[in-house]
Amino acid sequence: MPIRTDTIHAPAVPTDDLRAAVQAASLAPSLHNSQPWWFRIDEHGIDVHADPTRNPTAADPAGRELRIGCGAAILFARLALRELGWTVQTTLLPDPAEADHLARLTVTGREPATADEHSLVLAIPVRYTDRGRYDDRRVPLELVEQLRQAVSEEGAWLRTLDRPGDAVPVTMLLAHADEIERDDPAYTAELAAWSRYDAADDGVPRQAVDPVPVDARATTYPLRDFDVDGSVTAGYVAAQDPPPVERSYAALIGTPGDDDRSWLEAGAALGRLLLRAAVEGVNAQPMTQVLEVPAARIGLARELGVVGHPQMLLRLGYGTGRPITHRRSVDDLIR
Ligand SMILES: Cc1cc2nc3c(=O)[nH]c(=O)nc-3n(C[C@H](O)[C@H](O)[C@H](O)COP(=O)(O)O)c2cc1C
Repeated sequence: MPIRTDTIHAPAVPTDDLRAAVQAASLAPSLHNSQPWWFRIDEHGIDVHADPTRNPTAADPAGRELRIGCGAAILFARLALRELGWTVQTTLLPDPAEADHLARLTVTGREPATADEHSLVLAIPVRYTDRGRYDDRRVPLELVEQLRQAVSEEGAWLRTLDRPGDAVPVTMLLAHADEIERDDPAYTAELAAWSRYDAADDGVPRQAVDPVPVDARATTYPLRDFDVDGSVTAGYVAAQDPPPVERSYAALIGTPGDDDRSWLEAGAALGRLLLRAAVEGVNAQPMTQVLEVPAARIGLARELGVVGHPQMLLRLGYGTGRPITHRRSVDDLIR
């Protein structure tokens, strides 16, 4: 354990403020809503830890997506502390001997939140993963530029899939990766294990699954099929005049590196992008099968001609849903 010098002049923070920040962190997105994190609080700040025992390892053997979810949680905690008027110094991976100690958030002083921080914080409980059909409105170009900026603020880059020739190879790679995963009994068992049929405080509840079967969805992108037992889509009757195919706007978040730190930064970038989009009423859905199959991930980088490492693929648009998934209580998260 290294000697801590960061708290010598740090102010004492009320426990309620730290708990509010942990609560905000808990609302971050995570793979299968696994919430693979826990927290320790002291009067000067918050330590964020990974909980690898909760990680869906068939989909994410390296803990890459775990760190993406935790990176978003760290951002949400940072923003919540800013909203409460605290300045925060964030140290990623503060202890080289402890890889699961992901971040130390040290409160350094007081300063009112900016208008931008305030609007992002208001979006934390409003943001959710929308798996339904998006309507025909285009994501405005000005917003796309804001999303690019949001992602680069956290050290990542955004490659929007709006060039001719982008959609077809990405669709094919996604379909290929999805097929490989669905053929893997460990993957399907894990997806079933994170499916929820009651009011559990984690996992993906039936209500968060689109009632339209994945192969009949309006989007051209193959989406992860959470309807593991077919119960959600069982009553589906195709409309006689199905709506036109959705013009999903898709984007890829990537990072220059591909290590624990890069994954945390990609997560913060994801969190900032999702909140900025939510402020403007735009929803998103990750489509990460293509990033979970190594050959498909390499193919994605090659097809899109990106320098660096793809971390998170999203579709973006105007959905009609609402937040549905549940979270563990703050008491369960603080050790
Ligand atoms: C790393 C990561 C990968 C994800 N992959 C997918 C995906 O492939 N398909 C999907 O529908 N949702 C995906 N999600 C969204 C999670 O399922 C979602 O965040 C979680 O269920 C919590 O729900 P919420 O986002 O509505 O709060 C992913 C989220 C993260 C952080």
